[in-house]
Amino acid sequence: MSENKQYTVFEEKNAAAELGGGEARIKKHHDGGKLTARERIVQLFDAGTFNELDKLVTHQVNQMGLEKSKIPGDGMVTGYGKIDGRLVYAFAQDFTVLGGSMSRSNANKVVKVLELALKMGAPVIGLNDSGGARIQEGVQSLAGYADIFHLNVKASGVIPQISAIMGPCAGGAVYSPALTDFIMMVKDTSYMFVTGPDVIKSVTHEEVTKEDLGGAKTHNSKSGVAHLLAEDDEQAIQMLRELIGFLPSNNMEEAPEHSCTDDINREEPALDKLVPTDPNKPYNIREIIESVVDDKNFFEVQPYYAGNIIVGFARLDGKTVGIVANQPEVLAGVLDIESSVKGARFVRFCDAFNIPIVTFVDVPGFLPGTAQEYGGIIKHGAKLLYAFSEASVPKITLITRKAYGGAYDVMASKHIGADVNYAYPSAEIAVMGAEGAINILHRGKLNTEEDRQNAIQDYRDHFANPYKAAELGYIDEIIMPRTTRKKLIAALEMLATKQEDRPAKKHGNIPL
Ligand code: HXC
Repeated sequence: MSENKQYTVFEEKNAAAELGGGEARIKKHHDGGKLTARERIVQLFDAGTFNELDKLVTHQVNQMGLEKSKIPGDGMVTGYGKIDGRLVYAFAQDFTVLGGSMSRSNANKVVKVLELALKMGAPVIGLNDSGGARIQEGVQSLAGYADIFHLNVKASGVIPQISAIMGPCAGGAVYSPALTDFIMMVKDTSYMFVTGPDVIKSVTHEEVTKEDLGGAKTHNSKSGVAHLLAEDDEQAIQMLRELIGFLPSNNMEEAPEHSCTDDINREEPALDKLVPTDPNKPYNIREIIESVVDDKNFFEVQPYYAGNIIVGFARLDGKTVGIVANQPEVLAGVLDIESSVKGARFVRFCDAFNIPIVTFVDVPGFLPGTAQEYGGIIKHGAKLLYAFSEASVPKITLITRKAYGGAYDVMASKHIGADVNYAYPSAEIAVMGAEGAINILHRGKLNTEEDRQNAIQDYRDHFANPYKAAELGYIDEIIMPRTTRKKLIAALEMLATKQEDRPAKKHGNIPL
């Protein structure tokens, strides 16, 4: 081959790979409000840092018409690049090529990227836009998926794995994301389901739209399958970059430290008046979180699901922390099945990746009732208890108001291994609230409303405060709300070298 011819072949093959499923399908894709796989990859990485692997890989199938559509790359863009200067691996499915379906060949591409990421200790981001297993390939594509699932599990807790769902994803295309740490969905253009509306109709006669079944809102607010919601592809990619910035590259490293320009001694006088003394009055715990973290920047995870608990990432003095907080504004901050599972999963992620946990407590207890009991609140609540107990990262707890009953124990109490336990003067640490306690202790014995009020006041004087717990050393320090930021930072700094060993075991048996 002459030199010119060599270059021509090279350029033609490259161009064919970059064209994917062709102009018409790219136009349809754009008209649907979506970026192509390559456009997404370009936006995801720092300019000019992406290196593509396996650009010329094709499928190896010569049946069912596939022999006529061999597109270099086979509908999958894979490779590595930098996000804020740090190594990250990625794969992006190209819906314009056979609906982004998973072939044996492009499964091999994902496997290659996952194996590299594991060896190098760097995160993997999957941009999913796929109709699932490539139907024409039969068991080959199922095998490809299974290889990916197996590696997803091997990599779990070793490197962060993040999935963005950026189109209609079915079958295997949802199970690999489900094994990763975070799932982001894009409003109006992304769907996740095991089987689509047509199959559902034929099997169960149930009629449901794609959006109701598995749209971004459904999975962010109803099922809890997704963790993040973006308005469009551009915002999704920005959020992925932001999320990566909070995380270490692997489980042997610390999260990257950012320079902190926010005064570490900053006081917030408004916090002294935020928590109402009436235990039945709600307030927004987000106000405390946002006012104490660096630059008021709180990256909330699962903001639309189980709003009675809030989880997310922030920085204190430039260092990443995971925040877990009861939210008195939603269901009085009660712990129920959904909030327990949401909290537990987040705590376990933080623990796996060396991220200290700061817990804000204002919790009236576990939600009573048959719906909760039949749904298994015992085992689901135990997940949160297990996760906090198991976590060996630095744990700082601040009780702002109510810490009642079992929920006091569960919410990162001293007894299950928190390192520093603070309380505001407004904290109430007790087996239950005053009214409930008096109803049980004095049932039928209090003749007048005045007697009842006196008994309630007596109980409150004894129990509705943090002083008994402080006398016993269960609370290390009672702090003024205005000083929260500097107190959290001081504790975090003190705990920076924490080492806490656990007995050797294969793994624990969290109540699933
Ligand atoms: C091969 C596929 C495909 C697939 C879509 N295409 N899915 N090709 N294998 N799984 C092709 C279509 O034939 C079409 O080709 C192009 O991709 C675009 O698809 P459309 O249907 O036109 O797009 P749309 O209307 O947007 O619908 C998208 C969709 C739908 C909802 C994803 O295509 C769909 O339901 N696909 C099948 C989903 C599914 O059941 N997958 C198998 C899951 S089983 P042309 O040439 O017309 O452009 C599985 C097993 C793993 O994944 C299980 C692990 C636990």
